Amino acid sequence: MDVKERIENLRQEIEKHNHAYHVLDDPIISDIEYDRLMQELIELESNYPEYQSDTSPSQKVGGAVLDQFEKVNHTIPMLSLANAFEADDLRAFDQRLRKTHATISYVIEEKIDGLAAALRYEEGHLIQAATRGNGTIGEDITHNVKTIKSVPLRLKKPVSLEVRGEIFMPKAAFLKLNETRKKTDQSIFKNPRNAAAGSIRQLDSKIAAARDLDMYIYSLTETDAKMTRDHINTLAYLRELGFKTNPSTKRVDTIDQVIDNVEEIEERRAAKPYEIDGVVIKVNERKLYESIGYTAKSPKWAIAYKFKAEEVMSRVRSIVFQVGRTGQITPVANLEPVEIQGSTVSRATLHNATFVEEKDIREGDFVTIKKAGDIIPEVVAVIVEKRDDSQPAFAMIDHCPKCETPLERFGSEKDHYCPNPSCPAKQVEGLIHFASREAMNIEGLGTRIIELFYNEGFLKSIADIYRLHQHRDTLVVRAGFGEKSIDKLLKNIEASKTRSLEQLLFGLGIRFVGQKVSKVLAMHFKHISAIVETDENTLLDIDEIGPKIARSVIDYFQEEKNRERIEELDALGLNLEYTGKSLNEGVLKNKTFVLTGTLPTLNRKEAKERIEALGGRVTSAVSQNTDYVCAGEAAGSKLDKAKELGVTVIDEESLLDLLDS
Ligand code: IVH
Repeated sequence: MDVKERIENLRQEIEKHNHAYHVLDDPIISDIEYDRLMQELIELESNYPEYQSDTSPSQKVGGAVLDQFEKVNHTIPMLSLANAFEADDLRAFDQRLRKTHATISYVIEEKIDGLAAALRYEEGHLIQAATRGNGTIGEDITHNVKTIKSVPLRLKKPVSLEVRGEIFMPKAAFLKLNETRKKTDQSIFKNPRNAAAGSIRQLDSKIAAARDLDMYIYSLTETDAKMTRDHINTLAYLRELGFKTNPSTKRVDTIDQVIDNVEEIEERRAAKPYEIDGVVIKVNERKLYESIGYTAKSPKWAIAYKFKAEEVMSRVRSIVFQVGRTGQITPVANLEPVEIQGSTVSRATLHNATFVEEKDIREGDFVTIKKAGDIIPEVVAVIVEKRDDSQPAFAMIDHCPKCETPLERFGSEKDHYCPNPSCPAKQVEGLIHFASREAMNIEGLGTRIIELFYNEGFLKSIADIYRLHQHRDTLVVRAGFGEKSIDKLLKNIEASKTRSLEQLLFGLGIRFVGQKVSKVLAMHFKHISAIVETDENTLLDIDEIGPKIARSVIDYFQEEKNRERIEELDALGLNLEYTGKSLNEGVLKNKTFVLTGTLPTLNRKEAKERIEALGGRVTSAVSQNTDYVCAGEAAGSKLDKAKELGVTVIDEESLLDLLDS
């Protein structure tokens, strides 16, 4: 089989698996097998640029970076929908329609809270994706939409068409994203819709690729084929082409059935894995659309039933101030407990002083609460009519509630910070973070114990954690701790000394260095001393590291006290190395390999894993530092480069010998 054929086979194979996994939710192969196929495709495409394609599934990982968004004209305007808020509004809608069109039926679709997009395909290839914009002119977001796993880059038939649908971020992805952002001191998204919109409006497609976006297609707007299908069958046709449509969509005959279904959907709302803010009801008979007609803003053959915002009333008992790990001050409302959508809410973040001032929230106020994006409790508004004179206006504190240090505010930022590096609140939060599961994973060392030990003076710094054993005898006699539980804790602390470098790095709480970046740094530098000594350009040369992260890492390790902290941890016996596979003591330790071409029996991934298991490294570019280039069939420019530089070239057989030696 020649390379071109192999590439095409791989593409079809991967497309099949993308569809099975992301559209049908029914995967056929394991993630590892999938990764292997993708890896092979990426390698082949990079070795044979002449066969690259804009709609290859390899494009799903992102990579394209734009300077700006191009404008896109919508040949058919992207309209909005008229709203209904009551069952009666739906009945009125039905009566209007039936006057002129007695025999209609309806299609009921969830109204997903994301953002609308139009996708254009030519001869089956995705050529353009655009936002709604003002309805007439949107923005070109093709580079990002290509990274959405469920969006087919090639259709099952070579048709030309335009479809529209909703791009959204599932609730779980949203929560996870915010969790990570919080841990790395980035601002959090208010709701899944904002997160989806923020991800799609990125110039760098790697960001969208990492964000777990999804898309349901809900209409076919233009096509080169004759369109005689009604709406429900159009959706079935779109599914046949490979699109993901919402499986809960259904057709009914009467408005009473519509209303029953709307109620049912509203009941299931909280349990849905994505946010819905209503139900869209569309006439099923497409051939009637023209005669039913349009207003300037919306079609008359469809209506959006909007769920009532789930707001309940509560009262602000007090407003307290929390100090985060970075010193950021967050006002928090303590509320009289209320039930919203199946959970009890007694606290709501007030974000920052500006938020409280703009809404004029005061202690003692009656307020309406909702779950922002169905998830996070938020104060919507103050019920001013219920105010008497007893509510003092909110005053932002100007000193840290914990250490009394005057607070600072940077430029136009809305947040206040406690600048005191030894602020007890910051230190405690830092310790909690260090011991947390994602960082050093010290079981038993949670918030309560850390606060207690901190207040008693046993635990002032990260290093103190590893000196706790010196206080064993004092601790065991304390109420609440038995000998057993203290010994267990000390054992867990001791065990955490061997954690791999990425966990330690993450635990240090360096700004913008989250779990993923920690791993990247650990794998790249192998030992913390190499990170301490590195420079900005070296950091910027690493794929996943941008200027913000690089600057932050440099700043952190330039601080004397942080360097001392590392030395202290070293002296206490903590592991400072990356203990992942690539550091295994093996015969290939410090040997660098480049793989090129197709090997007869091993695929890329297997070869890489086996080399790394023996301590070797696999890189993608050939340089003076490369020890071996392992070349297979149809090896390209990398082989030439190896010959040019005099790097040892081996075939698979020799590689297997090396691996077995
Ligand atoms: S149909 C002319 N169907 O709701 C028809 N819209 O106000 C327009 N939306 O901008 C869209 N789910 O972003 C349609 N199943 C669905 C929808 C849906 C969400 C959004 C869409 C649109 C807005 C309409």
